Order: sequence, then structure tokens, then C-alpha cells
Amino acid sequence: MLNIGLIGLGFMGKTHLENYLRLEREGAPVRVVALCDVDAAKLNGEGGGGNIETSSEHAIDYGRFSKYTSVEEMLNNEKLDIVDITLPTFLHRDVTIQCLNSGVHVLCEKPMAMNAAECDDMVAAAEANGKQLLIGQCLRFWPAYVYLQELVESGRFGSATSAHFYRGGGTPSWGPWVLVKEKGGGALLDMHVHDTDTVNWLFGKPEAVSSIGRNVIPGSGYDIVSTQYRYADGKVVSSHVDWTLNGDFGFEMGYKINFERGNLQFDGSRVKVNPNDGAGFFAELAEDQGYYYQIKAFVEAVAGDRPIEAATPASTKASIEIVTAERESADQRGAWVLVP
Ligand SMILES: NC(=O)c1ccc[n+]([C@@H]2O[C@H](COP(=O)([O-])OP(=O)(O)OC[C@H]3O[C@@H](n4cnc5c(N)ncnc54)[C@H](O)[C@@H]3O)[C@@H](O)[C@H]2O)c1
Repeated sequence: MLNIGLIGLGFMGKTHLENYLRLEREGAPVRVVALCDVDAAKLNGEGGGGNIETSSEHAIDYGRFSKYTSVEEMLNNEKLDIVDITLPTFLHRDVTIQCLNSGVHVLCEKPMAMNAAECDDMVAAAEANGKQLLIGQCLRFWPAYVYLQELVESGRFGSATSAHFYRGGGTPSWGPWVLVKEKGGGALLDMHVHDTDTVNWLFGKPEAVSSIGRNVIPGSGYDIVSTQYRYADGKVVSSHVDWTLNGDFGFEMGYKINFERGNLQFDGSRVKVNPNDGAGFFAELAEDQGYYYQIKAFVEAVAGDRPIEAATPASTKASIEIVTAERESADQRGAWVLVP
């Protein structure tokens, strides 16, 4: 049985908790034993937020968990196998390393860290301790994106000739850190990293990027970003993020990908597949959100003592390098910046 501790019970922490409890109900070899949050009210399920509806119909019995307001105390007092970190981004590096050094496997939310040097420190700690580290780039487990990745890899429609990724929504109103550039990195790092990571996962690192960015909310960094990713084979790849779509906009994510022999449209709920030489159809996709498949994959990887190939720490670090290049380009009003 794998004992789980969760750190940070805000929007994502609650989502992760619900998914571990679902795995418990399904008979997976996991048991959530401890919760940790500096805000004691969160340890009883109060507060929340978020831009994706994830609510579960199962009420959570918060009385069954050991509760801590200090990470150190939780690590000292509990016998844990996995710690799941859903803390504000600027804390990812330090708390991930603290947990790995205490001898547990770690699932840490995306973005991996504030910059590539911090990612290097996290990778080194995982290697030094012989523990697994998974970064919650959940689109790598999200059915509509997994379908796309399998199509790219199989070459069923030939090579991709163009790709566009979109992500937009209202300004986050929870967790005041989210809108502080030094703590969250703006929409560019917090939200857009999903699409940058998808570009990296599907096509590898681009040679160079050109980004136009705009700050709207004082102190938050780039809130609107549009990027072109340059590849040696000439495929045309772009993405756009905007988290200042307020009013009744809600949240939207999607993609449009063109291949030599067909194309794909994802509108946030369904993937339409359009072969050039036949009738279009909707892809049959697994029904749950990527959060569930991601946590399930991590638990199975730890239980089976094998790494998760779909999201290695090195590849999620590469996504942070690309985002950093995008920021440098935006700082130079769209100049092409080479990706290291
Ligand atoms: N994968 C996704 O789709 C997705 C969606 C939203 C957020 N996220 C990521 O998840 C992470 C958390 O975001 P969130 O929206 O849940 O934030 P949040 O502000 O809702 O939650 C963070 C929680 O951490 C707690 N906390 C802060 N400092 C702490 C400390 N030192 N020790 C213990 N607890 C502490 C806070 O009290 C809060 O409850 C971020 O990195 C964010 O980018 C991922």
C-alpha cells in the first residue's frame, strides 16, 4: 500500500485529493494519510477556486486525515511513499527537493519551476535520492491531447504541416500569488506552459521562438501571449493564451492541427478528425480529465518501480526553457530568440 501526503489544498490540491480518493475506491494500492497547508481552514476543505470544473459527487471525510500546517512536521511524523505538491509555483523547487531528500516520490504540479536552473536542482535531487519525480503537465494524460500525440507519432496522416493551440479564460481570482509575476510567472508561465509543453511533447524543442506579449494586470507579467515556434522542417506552429477574458467568457482550450493527409479540430469537448480522402468523424476518447489519468499513471509507475516515459523531468524542464525563450522574445517585442 502506498501512503500519500498532499501539500497545498487549494484549487489543484482539492482536485488531486478527489482523484486519489477515487483511486482508493477503485481498489488501487493507495491511501491518503496526511494533508498539509499553511492555511488550516483548507485542511477541512474550505476555500477553492479554479478555471476548470472538477467537482466530485463524493463528499470528502476530512476527519480521516492527519493534518499539518508545516511540511517538515508532516515529513517527520508520517511514513509516506508519495508526496503530491500543489503549491504556488515559486515554492515548487524548494518543497520538491525537501520531500525527495526525505525519501519519498514526488508528483509536483506544473509549471515545473520558475526557471531552468530550479528544474535542474529538482532533477538532481530526484536522481540523488533514487526517487521518481513527475511534473503535472496534465495534457500529456488528457484524452484529446493523447489522441493527437498518438496521431503525430504513428504518422497515420503523414507529418504535421501546421498546428495552433489556444487557451483562454477569466483572470484567476483565487490564490493572490497567481497574479504576482515573481511567484506565478504570469499567464505565460502559469497557463500557457500547457500549450508550450504540448508543442515540446509533440514536436520536440523548436529552434527559435517569436512572442508578442502584453501585460494588462499590474505586476502579473505577460497576461496575453501569442507565439510562433520555428522548426527546421518548416511546419507552422503557433499558440495563443489570454487570461483577461472576463465577463461570461468562462474557460476555453483547443487546437487545430493539419497533417499531409488530414486534419484535427479540438473544441474543448470533442476531437473532429477530417481525413483528406474521406468523411470526417469524432474521435472516441476516454471520458475522464487528464488529472485522473496522470495520478493513476504516477501511482502505477511508483507501484511498479518504473519511470513514466510520457513526461520525464528532463522533458518538462525543456518546456520551461522554451517558455523562458518566449519571455525573452516578448521582452524584445517579438524578436526571434534561439531555444537553448
Ligand atoms: N494542471 C492544471 O491544470 C493546474 C490548474 C491550476 C493550477 N495549477 C498549478 O497548481 C499549483 C497550485 O495552484 P492552485 O491554483 O491550486 O493555487 P491555490 O492558491 O488555490 O492553492 C495553493 C495552496 O497552497 C497553500 N500554501 C501556500 N504556501 C504554503 C506552504 N509554504 N506550505 C503549505 N501550504 C502552502 C495555500 O494556503 C493554498 O491552499 C500552481 O503551480 C498552479 O500553476 C495547475
